[in-house]
Amino acid sequence: MLVNTKQVQSDDNRVVHPWDNIQRLGHNKRTIIAQSDGIYVHDSDGNRLIDGPAGMWCVNIGHGREEMVDAAAEQMRRMPYYSPWGLANVPAAELAARLVEHTPGDLNHVFYTTGGSTAVDSALRFVMFYNNYLGRPDKKHVISREKAYHGSTYLAASCSGKERDKNYFDFEQQRVHHLPAPNPYRRPAGMSVQAFCDEKVADLENKILEVGPEQVAAFIAEPVLASGGVIVPPPGYHYRCLEVCRRYDVLYIADEVVTAFGRLGHFFASEDVFGMVPDIITAAKGITSGYVPLGAVFISDRLLSDLNLEARKAAVFSNGFTYSGHPVACAAALKNIEIMEREDLMQHVQEISGYFLARLGELEEIPIVGNVRGAGLMACVECVISQDSKDPLSLDYEIGDRIDRHCQRLGLIVRPLINMCVMSPPLIISRSQIDELVNILRQGIANTMEDVRREGLWSPPPE
Ligand SMILES: Cc1ncc(COP(=O)(O)O)c(C=O)c1O
Repeated sequence: MLVNTKQVQSDDNRVVHPWDNIQRLGHNKRTIIAQSDGIYVHDSDGNRLIDGPAGMWCVNIGHGREEMVDAAAEQMRRMPYYSPWGLANVPAAELAARLVEHTPGDLNHVFYTTGGSTAVDSALRFVMFYNNYLGRPDKKHVISREKAYHGSTYLAASCSGKERDKNYFDFEQQRVHHLPAPNPYRRPAGMSVQAFCDEKVADLENKILEVGPEQVAAFIAEPVLASGGVIVPPPGYHYRCLEVCRRYDVLYIADEVVTAFGRLGHFFASEDVFGMVPDIITAAKGITSGYVPLGAVFISDRLLSDLNLEARKAAVFSNGFTYSGHPVACAAALKNIEIMEREDLMQHVQEISGYFLARLGELEEIPIVGNVRGAGLMACVECVISQDSKDPLSLDYEIGDRIDRHCQRLGLIVRPLINMCVMSPPLIISRSQIDELVNILRQGIANTMEDVRREGLWSPPPE
């Protein structure tokens, strides 16, 4: 495909991108991704790059799957769209039946949305609806964590906890509370991981008691804090948080927008990886492997039967979207699941993730790499000034970007997050492709280290 890169870059300057720096609007020269295949993308100048972040943690089955194209096209031909208000369509119903074969416990109902933010928002609105219906109008407070990312709708953004995303915005502050992130790498010096876990679980209980259990409706948590830097909580953390929630009649919303559909080697991570069955799960991204937008909220039978107890008094859940259960998106999701099952991608991730994390772990030899962590096929390389002090590089706004720029020249896209580089490649990645990814990343970090040394911004540790 022939693309006039300069023209597209110029036209693109009319697009306000997510997380755009408005001051740079009109002056960007973005890499144009023009084509893609397997774990690779091709820019408009014909350079091939490994898709390190799988788009945005989403192209799980990899790029260029003809079957997905056919499934979407076939559905468009047969029936492109019809209203989900009161009417049903075949793929949305079939998909619900397929999905609940994989959901944990009694999470046997699905509410379709258009993506992750609308899934989180709908989950939170459901919780409000639930408590209003049960005659508990004060039980509305939500507890979240620092470093969380739950989306860009007002309520989902209010539950997000990334400090640097708080500039120039307003948020719901009365009824949303944030706990410190359970990041074992940042635990106080001398504290064991076990004691750190105890402390983080106690944070939740203390916050519930401080706000008042009769006021706290839900705890929302990503199984692995993804955009906050792939923070894997200490063993037992989620299960113990669920126990605390149960003790105080607080609902547990597991935000699996990133972790569901294979990223951790299972369709859902809550039970299979973390041994707990939440009350609500939100999902998106990997549900269609990003081929078309779709999100989902899984709600437990228990919650829905609570709403049936009071002699079925009229209760209309007035929440939904024109594109809830979009037939084309649901047809794509059905095909996506079929591919994941047929190719046993869950098994593949379970087998290869140890190699992925071990190879990336070797990067801790580099002096500016403080910590490499991850789970399944998601990992984070965190850069620091000094491995001892663990201080993020003073160029922390830029160091990830600098590494990404070097890596792109070498053939790899990195997801830069301040002083961190996130890797979450398509799940089909092979061992030799992991080697290719790690070798480029190593070189990209080494080149960046050399730049900051030359610029006098960093100096090597004494021998
Ligand atoms: C855990 C989590 N929840 C919610 C969202 C929001 O999803 P979307 O961007 O599809 O609205 C994201 C997006 O990255 C996410 O990582």
